Parts: sequence; structure tokens; C-alpha cells
Amino acid sequence: MSKYRQLQKIFVDQIEITQYIGLDTSILFYNKLQESIAKPLKMILLYGKPGTGKSILINKIYHDLRDKEDIHIISTPIRNESEFIRTLYRFLVGDANEVPENLTYNQFIDICQSLKDEKHITVLLDEAQLYPSSMMEQIRLISDTRVIKFVVSLHKTEKEDLIAKEHFQSRIWETIELKNGTIHDTQMYIQKKLIQQNYFEIANMFDMGNCKLIHRFTKGNYREINKMMYTLFEIYDYYENHRPSKIAHKTVKKQFIEMAALKLGYIHA
Ligand SMILES: Nc1ncnc2c1ncn2[C@@H]1O[C@H](COP(=O)(O)OP(=O)(O)OP(=O)(O)O)[C@@H](O)[C@H]1O
Ligand SMILES: [Mg+2]
Repeated sequence: MSKYRQLQKIFVDQIEITQYIGLDTSILFYNKLQESIAKPLKMILLYGKPGTGKSILINKIYHDLRDKEDIHIISTPIRNESEFIRTLYRFLVGDANEVPENLTYNQFIDICQSLKDEKHITVLLDEAQLYPSSMMEQIRLISDTRVIKFVVSLHKTEKEDLIAKEHFQSRIWETIELKNGTIHDTQMYIQKKLIQQNYFEIANMFDMGNCKLIHRFTKGNYREINKMMYTLFEIYDYYENHRPSKIAHKTVKKQFIEMAALKLGYIHA
């Protein structure tokens, strides 16, 4: 595989906690979430636009805390009520115990109440915007028993912003909003992703000017940065095969970034 094809692969969108990067802002959010989890809260709402790093953050927290704490994660929503309750039951009592047949939501609430002085677990729910509102209501009532603390991660599009507000404002005890990265985060993200894979020279090519331009197009959204970088290396690959003399090796050519932006529809010809 050519070098640029390999570089493209680094920016494929995926949740790989070994490749988590402690950016200035992500460390801030990480610490905030960790502090919230340590407090006696019932629910914590983690929200932010798609691509701001919610999933990677809760996966990282889960990975870091699971040896020390009773913490669990549901990455893909379980929208079947009984399946959801059974999963929580298993989290609560451990895999060794059989889940009672036909366990109902009311029975589960009773079980939680009976455990309220002995058990305290944390459950991370990713993609929570996909749970129907009836289930969100149940989740809230389960959290009222204080046996399960929920971290509810959901993405906020303009439309869902309203739903999130309606649903949580008065009820949630603490909210954390993830934001896009700054120009500095953008540069750190790009350089550290490349350095993780030992591409030191390529990382150095992304100077402040380049990163400012990439930030202008992507607004510092990590998913958009991934797309931009993927496309940029696709362009590099093309030039290497067709016009290698056009490739500068000291910094990234502004025109290449603009071509990627054009291809992705950030700008129009
Ligand atoms: N701190 C970070 N370190 C490494 N990669 C990151 C970091 N923050 C974001 N990313 C990368 O950015 C991309 C988007 O992040 P993620 O999927 O976590 O966003 P999200 O907020 O969960 O989006 P959605 O709302 O669509 O689910 C992923 O590929 C992820 O690996
Ligand atoms: Mg996500």
C-alpha cells in the first residue's frame, strides 16, 4: 500500500481508545466527567454536536475506571424494554446469577430499592437520543432509587437541542456539553494522530497556517477533521501517482487543503 493510502487509514472514523488523545479541551471534559461520576448524582447528561468526541470520551472513561469501579457501558441502545431491564439486572447482580424469567420494570425497581444501601453502580448510555421517551422516563425513575447512576450521552442537532432541553433541563443534576476543538486542538489532534503512527515528518508539515485553514473549514469538529485529512491524503496519493513534482514536502500546500474542502463541499467552485 502506498504511503498516502496508509496515512488515509489513520483518519478513518472509529472509536479506538488506544488512540485516544488528551487534547487541552478533551482533558478538561474528561476531568469534568470523572468528577461528576464521583459525586452522588443520579444522572449526568453529556451532550454535544455529532463528532465532538462523546463516544470516545465515555469509552475512555469506561476503560480507565472499570478495574476500580462498578461501571458499565451500553454503546448501542437497547430499545427493547425487557432486554434493557435484563441488561441492567446483569450489571447489578453479576453474570453468575440468572435473570428471573419475565423480569418486569416494576420488579426491577423493587429490586433496586431493596439494594439501595448496598449497591451503587454507574451505567454509561451512548447514543441515548435513540431511546424512546417512555424508556428515558423509566431510566430517570431507576436513577431515583440511587442504585444506578446514569451517564446519558446524546448528540444534539439543532432539532434535538429542543428535545434535550425539554427532557432534561429540570431533571438532570449535571450537564456537560462537548464542544468542537480550537485551532490549537485541531493542530494537536492532527499532529498527535500522525505521531502515534510514527509519521513525525508528516506531522511537522501541518504548520499553524495549514491548521488554521483546516479549522476554518471543519470548525474544529473531529469527525470533519478526519474527513478532511482522509481526503487530503487521497489528493496526495493522486499527485504522487500523476504529478509527483507538484508535491511540496516541507509544509502542506494551501491549494491541496482547498481542493479537499472543495471535494467535501465546504466551498463551491
Ligand atoms: N480526544 C480524542 N482523541 C482521539 N480521537 C478523537 C478524540 N476526540 C474525537 N476523536 C475522534 O473523532 C471522531 C468523532 O468522535 P466521536 O465518534 O466520539 O463523536 P461523537 O460526539 O460520539 O459523535 P456522534 O454524536 O455522531 O455519536 C472519532 O473518530 C474519534 O476517534
Ligand atoms: Mg457517538
